[in-house]
Amino acid sequence: MIIKSLSFKQAKQKIKKLIEEIKYHEKKYYVDNDPQISDYEFDKLVKELKEFENQFPELITPESPTQRVGEQPISGFESTEHRTPMLSLDNCYSREELKEFEERIKKIVPSEKIDYVAELKIDGLGLSAIYRDEKYIQSVTRGDGFRGDDVTLNVKTIRSLPLTITDYHKIEVRGEVYLPFLSFQKINQERAKNDESLFANPRNAAAGSLRLLDPKEVASRHLDIFLYSIFIEGKELPSQWENLQVLKELGFKINPCSRHCSSLEEVISFWEEWREKREDLDYDVDGIVVKVNSTEQQKSLGSTAKFPRWAISFKFPARQATTKIQNIEVQVGRTGALTPVAILEPVKLSGITISRSTLHNEDEIKRKDIRIGDYVLIERSGDVIPKVVSVMKERRTGKEVRFVFPAKCPVCGSLTFKPEGEAISRCTNSSCLEKLKESLRHFASRRAMNIEGLGEALVDQLIEKKLVKIISDIYFLKNEDLLNLERMGSKSSQNLKDEIEKSKPRDLTRLIYALGIRYVGERTAQALASHFKNLKTLSRASLEELIQIEDVGPKVGESVVFFFKQPENIELMNKLKEAGLNFFYKKEKKEGDLPLSGQVFVLTGKFSRMTREKATEIIKDLGGSVTSSVSSRTSYVVVGESPGSKLERAKKLEVLILEEIEFLRLIKKD
Ligand code: IVH
Repeated sequence: MIIKSLSFKQAKQKIKKLIEEIKYHEKKYYVDNDPQISDYEFDKLVKELKEFENQFPELITPESPTQRVGEQPISGFESTEHRTPMLSLDNCYSREELKEFEERIKKIVPSEKIDYVAELKIDGLGLSAIYRDEKYIQSVTRGDGFRGDDVTLNVKTIRSLPLTITDYHKIEVRGEVYLPFLSFQKINQERAKNDESLFANPRNAAAGSLRLLDPKEVASRHLDIFLYSIFIEGKELPSQWENLQVLKELGFKINPCSRHCSSLEEVISFWEEWREKREDLDYDVDGIVVKVNSTEQQKSLGSTAKFPRWAISFKFPARQATTKIQNIEVQVGRTGALTPVAILEPVKLSGITISRSTLHNEDEIKRKDIRIGDYVLIERSGDVIPKVVSVMKERRTGKEVRFVFPAKCPVCGSLTFKPEGEAISRCTNSSCLEKLKESLRHFASRRAMNIEGLGEALVDQLIEKKLVKIISDIYFLKNEDLLNLERMGSKSSQNLKDEIEKSKPRDLTRLIYALGIRYVGERTAQALASHFKNLKTLSRASLEELIQIEDVGPKVGESVVFFFKQPENIELMNKLKEAGLNFFYKKEKKEGDLPLSGQVFVLTGKFSRMTREKATEIIKDLGGSVTSSVSSRTSYVVVGESPGSKLERAKKLEVLILEEIEFLRLIKKD
């Protein structure tokens, strides 16, 4: 796009007009779900705005739609106190309990007519957002209700949240940040591809996303927010229903399903209706929230220490569905563990199609008497992986087949072994193909040796075509071997070889973790690497020596000793050495691994040897960060003359307190 040179005044007008236009379309798209232009046209407007702003950077304001996603990663989240506590809600699970809630209300406000607002209870994270002078300035998570984390920049990436409002100078809005199912599934698919652990449910994924340090990454998670409360300084709205209308008029996204109910019966109908219909929503709800509508009545009712007396959550029962077990398969994991998995007739459960369910182990199948062909009740309680709750024995036809747990590994046919007292059978063959595939996938995964391009499909081919019989074989692959594989040209085979080569010098911690020793996760791998400093020394370590290390108990110790006793693992080690892999521990200096990396400072009082600004600059140069309020995450509070209340708080929270002179010593400037 070519931008004619404009005068400052013309550019200002143009930018103002573009911002208005973009804001209008953002609201139409993200809040009203009613887009007026195509994504392409929308992106064009944003691009145009960006180009004007590049030409006139002095005209960029924090509320510009181009400024939703900050360029710089943030250093952490400062703990911040809520102006008024964010209370939690009492729960009830039956109509009777809900009626008791109304009884309690009627005792306090007798002879008054009570109407309610029924809202969906979104399963996300409570959040408060503050606007000053019509501009978005801050967001804080609910936290413990009194203090939460300042997540201003991350929340700014939520496109449905307006960055400017009209009419009011000082407002606070509260609502629930959530992740739609679709975004949740995408995140988990991506994590599965990268061999990262999966989020159990959208709520956890939303919480994890809100705590990411890079706003760009947060933006890619597509969080969203429904608002349900507004506090306007100097103005009290008469009811909750009015609250919702004002939020809507100001451009906030409110949940469209909320209902003004004139009686408790209507509330109950709302609950019954949504108990069924929640499956059609594209986000997770776990019940409804019932709120007394009138603000006056709410005030008369007041709150207990934890909950308001004027609101309650009426939960939905756990999500259950019935389906048929078509088959039971046995999967072989990296450690040779045999896990039975029920293959189900696909059934939809809270927006996700379920077609498999783990049956854990042989004993579980026996205990629940699960047979192939059985109808079963499955349940998801927030988590992704459903479990079989019970078998519907009354639906049996007699054609159901008892499952015989295989005595041999379904992949390689070797004998399986179930140690005394354990529930899990394992394949005894160390070169079982499935075990080898799983081991190689793990070895190459991002957090292990991080070999890009060595994904699942390629691992399968390498092993099925017998090009890899032991993991170390990947370091001896020849171009002609690779060229015979599907979808492998000379360029991609060279790229793969380069990536494999690049993994050779990786640090010892990664290598130990990559070996896939049972019970040795990343943390234990780190402890072993820093203690033994050399893979050979670790391989000769005795149990006594191993259990001296913090974080290593007898179970882990025995597993390490066992691993290095196996002839195939000794061979693997020798071959990896021969291939030229790094076996030594060298504490890497990571980027950002500066003397004060990860340390959070709070400065208070007047300093005599340098200004607070200078001290801040030095701390930042050394990799630390400076925040303005003391929390349990503060590493040091540095006190100068006449310190304020921060010193008291530091003492209360037992945060390390440094005099100026001690601080200078820490930064070696005395
Ligand atoms: S009202 C004092 N309304 O549920 C009023 N909360 O279990 C308190 N929640 O902390 C909140 N949807 O994070 C309210 N429509 C809704 C809600 C809702 C979800 C969350 C909120 C609260 C938690 C209590």
